[in-house]
Amino acid sequence: MATEVSDLLPQIDRSALPAHVAIIMDGNGRWARKRGLPRVAGHRAGINAVREVVEGSAELGIPVLTLYAFSVENWKRPRSEVTTLMQLLKEYLNKELENIHRNNIRFRTIGRTDELDASVQAELDKGIAKTSRNSGMIFNVALNYGGRAEIVDAVNRLLRNGGKAAADNGGITEEHFAQYLYTAGQPDPDLLIRTSGELRVSNFLLWQIAYAEIWVTDTLWPDFEKRHLYEAIIAYQKRERRYGGLEPAQMTIEH
Ligand code: FPP
Repeated sequence: MATEVSDLLPQIDRSALPAHVAIIMDGNGRWARKRGLPRVAGHRAGINAVREVVEGSAELGIPVLTLYAFSVENWKRPRSEVTTLMQLLKEYLNKELENIHRNNIRFRTIGRTDELDASVQAELDKGIAKTSRNSGMIFNVALNYGGRAEIVDAVNRLLRNGGKAAADNGGITEEHFAQYLYTAGQPDPDLLIRTSGELRVSNFLLWQIAYAEIWVTDTLWPDFEKRHLYEAIIAYQKRERRYGGLEPAQMTIEH
């Protein structure tokens, strides 16, 4: 029997929420196949799950949520599927932007969005502009995103912005480099969620997930609900994070 939201919510420690939750939404195709439907029906059903996690994260007070919607590798999919994904994104924004705005959420994108269709870019720009003065959760949608592409883009921007001089003058620090990433100014993900059971990071936020806790569920993305998000956060809060160090008790043991 499914665990209820009302059982899970009290188990979440509001003072120790992940500063950034990143999600690899996977399994839309399998969800559709199980029902004898075309793959795009899975993507359409996946929109409900997007709504669930955006709402659920904002309600909890998660500072940053990032969803992996379209990777640089996804162009290899059939043209009709790519077109539908872009169409769904536009529909989603059209329908949800008011709600996103009303919930004080800041909508943003990460990725090479300048390579997307002009009509998609226009819709994205509208969402970003409308919500830019909000002060609540940052909601990043990763579009035409690749972790390696992001690092290469950061290096190029750094070089164009006096990187050579900085390198000669004491070297570039991790903090300095991170300012050139798409996520500049945002905390790194503490929690990375992946649906549909695959154990891969798929070129997602490669720099930023250095210390992220990874939580994988067999649930397919269209079936993902608030309660799954809560389960992930509860599991995250039970983990002991050491960042390469030792747990405090061990620090006192002589070796
Ligand atoms: C992975 O499932 C899912 C995607 C590549 C796309 C996710 C996109 C959406 C849910 C819709 C638009 C997004 C937003 C933010 C409004 P898959 O097709 O790889 O599934 P499979 O591995 O089962 O084939």
